[in-house]
Amino acid sequence: MHHTTVLALVLGGAAILVSARPPHGIHAVAGSGTVKCPLVFDGRVKTATVLEDFDSYATSIFNPDYVRGKDKFSQIIKFPEAGSARFDTEAHKPFEVTISDNSIFQTQKGFRRAGLQFQGDTNSGSPGSSGIKTIHFSLKWDSQRALNLSHEYLNVWHEAGDYSSNQFNFETGAILGQSSLSRDTYKVLDRKNKQIWSTAIDKTAWQNFAITLNFDKNTLQVYYSKGDDPLKSVTSALSNDNSGGGQYQIGILKKPTGTSDVVNAGFQQKNLNEGLIYGSLFLEDSAAGCISL
Ligand SMILES: *[C@@H]1O[C@H](CO)[C@@H](O)[C@H](O)[C@H]1NC(C)=O
Repeated sequence: MHHTTVLALVLGGAAILVSARPPHGIHAVAGSGTVKCPLVFDGRVKTATVLEDFDSYATSIFNPDYVRGKDKFSQIIKFPEAGSARFDTEAHKPFEVTISDNSIFQTQKGFRRAGLQFQGDTNSGSPGSSGIKTIHFSLKWDSQRALNLSHEYLNVWHEAGDYSSNQFNFETGAILGQSSLSRDTYKVLDRKNKQIWSTAIDKTAWQNFAITLNFDKNTLQVYYSKGDDPLKSVTSALSNDNSGGGQYQIGILKKPTGTSDVVNAGFQQKNLNEGLIYGSLFLEDSAAGCISL
């Protein structure tokens, strides 16, 4: 509910009336989607959350220490005014993950990365890596911190427990070694790094994604919608090797150009200031086919 407040402002001696509405993302605006299935991890950030809350286990819904460089998450995360994504209620607000020249994790000098892990999503034996689970997330482009689509970006993925591969990758930009794929799309790649679905990036609307991982039957299924529309399935349940446990990662991992050793070498521009806005982030239990659309 919006309460339209009428404020009288005196500007330069002349009284004018303006209709003041609370800015989106700051005050109550809700998407029309409803979470229907049991939540395994809720990555929706509460309206009352302050940036410093991301820096400790006691106050963050994510892991405060991983995966980042020397900047803390209170420096990495921003609260943009982006409206509400589909499954965000009045109690939630969108958040932006950013990368800068400081976004070097450990010795990985080739990457610029900042990524969130749900607190409780342990690398081994996580409830997120068994049964049937659906990861939901919505994205909004930030033209002030635009990604450079000449590079390959991982945004959401599930990394196997031995860190040797990812069960799936949700990516954007120019995928290294796959120049036939369009750059300005969001795309889902399977464990073999084969694209199974893509859609054009919309630089103004929310875009909503859900990926169901069936760890029992080894399948992957993608759902999508734009704005506040209900999700629709855009692939069938495709065969995929979901074994190996591990963790979800949500944020930005930007690969370099001009190298075959992407982890350690290659080109990254200086004075980097890029970001991507997230909302409606959660993992739900899709046992018996439950899914929130
Ligand atoms: C985008 O990346 C390419 C490849 O690294 C680089 O040449 C170019 O300068 C970058 N563009 C911007 C606007 O930073």
